[in-house]
Amino acid sequence: MSKKTSTWVVLCADEDIAEGSREVFEVDGKWIAVFRVSGKLYAIEDLCTHDGGTLTERADGSPVPLDGYEIECPRHGGRFDIRSGKAVHAPALIDVPWYETRVQDGMIEIAL
Ligand code: FES
Repeated sequence: MSKKTSTWVVLCADEDIAEGSREVFEVDGKWIAVFRVSGKLYAIEDLCTHDGGTLTERADGSPVPLDGYEIECPRHGGRFDIRSGKAVHAPALIDVPWYETRVQDGMIEIAL
């Protein structure tokens, strides 16, 4: 059995994502949203599994607020838990990719 090895990718400085905010990064051809909630970092792919819409931005460009640890897709209302990527409300039925995060030497990294 082979063990999956992760590649850690540096995204930004730790202080670049303030408490209660998020940033979106393009990594390896994917858009990844990183949130800081209650001091912890959570990273999910910023692409709804229902029909491919962005999860973090409405059509008018305004940010989609979190509801606790959930984000609601602005297109059709599918919801995901940012702590796991789990789809928690229809029409989203498939989990969104979730990424492990860490802070190393003052920099936020995600595992790919
Ligand atoms: S594209 Fe997200 S719920 Fe439809």
